[in-house]
Amino acid sequence: EKGGYEHFMLKEIYEQPRSIYDCMRGRIYPLEGKVQLGGIKEYTEKFKNAQRIIIVACGTSWHAGLVGEYLIEEYARIPVEVEYASEFRYRNPIINENDIVIAISQSGETADTMAAIEMAKEKGATIFGICNVVGASIPRLSHAGIYTHAGPEIGVASTKAFTAQVTALTLMAFYMAETKGTIAKSKLIGLLSELERIPKLVEKALQSDQYILSIAEKFKDVRNALFLGRGSGFPVALEGALKLKEISYIHAEGYPAAEMKHGPIALIDEEMPVIVIATKNSSYEKVISNIQEVKARKGVVIAIVTEGDTEVTKMADYSIEIPHTDEAFLPLIATIPLQLLSYHIAVLRGSNVDQPRNLAKSVTVE
Ligand code: M6R
Repeated sequence: EKGGYEHFMLKEIYEQPRSIYDCMRGRIYPLEGKVQLGGIKEYTEKFKNAQRIIIVACGTSWHAGLVGEYLIEEYARIPVEVEYASEFRYRNPIINENDIVIAISQSGETADTMAAIEMAKEKGATIFGICNVVGASIPRLSHAGIYTHAGPEIGVASTKAFTAQVTALTLMAFYMAETKGTIAKSKLIGLLSELERIPKLVEKALQSDQYILSIAEKFKDVRNALFLGRGSGFPVALEGALKLKEISYIHAEGYPAAEMKHGPIALIDEEMPVIVIATKNSSYEKVISNIQEVKARKGVVIAIVTEGDTEVTKMADYSIEIPHTDEAFLPLIATIPLQLLSYHIAVLRGSNVDQPRNLAKSVTVE
């Protein structure tokens, strides 16, 4: 049932070209510049008039939410807040009938996320669910929503569910942008044609697997790791750090690259790898200065770079190439090498990758 793979996690990492495709299948029409989301169609007016959107989730799903914030604000121009469900539910949040709450959950059973939407619903908000497990509690509690269609995820560490959540949020952001008229038709046509290519690009990113294994062999015994990114590369950094800590038990932190000098820079030495999302996009030059800061302190840099890059490659100790894509889709590609890196480090350390200690696949108690 692992389809020839040693672990479910590896199988699920490799399933991503397919799961991302399944998430967008029948929902995008690149030639016409149209997105169709049956699940939320009745609520088009609601999105048109939305003053703000609150995203609630936990763990990896919360990271997907941060990517969603970036996309919805960029394209649909609706203000977004991303909240840990556990914090949101115990505050006395200001919510009214004009608010849209999007709950993201692979399992659809996470206790804190459920409680958060129950509360928001009571206060009159409209609830949308982005879930993977069909018919789970969160979809049943929501007014509407869309399924991610990633297929069953068995590994406790979320991989294909994350990229499917990001794909679903991308579709929602484009859908809202289209209905609100905040995106030009020609721009949307271009973005949707690129989105259609993403499964192929993910396949390409997976080809660095052996090289990533060789990096994992060098770093398997480290005690700490720092992940840095800017823009939508920041949630990718958070996700990379979470993946590493949960399956390899190495302490890892994700930070916005510019925040490094406000504290974490003190940790940098020859021992600690700093994994940097340094692809060619709007923050490229800024990230290069951050890498220089790490190198000046004798830090070890593992960079995720755009294919053909020479500038970062010169400075970094190791560079993992990913294919170029529009900045909107960067998280879908840049996450892949980080999943593989964590996987290989965890296997080399002898951890139980699919069922890491102390963790459950769905957290149904708070
Ligand atoms: O099922 P959910 O998406 O609601 O689960 C949320 C988190 O428990 C989950 O993402 C957790 O952080 C994963 N183990 C991360 O890999």
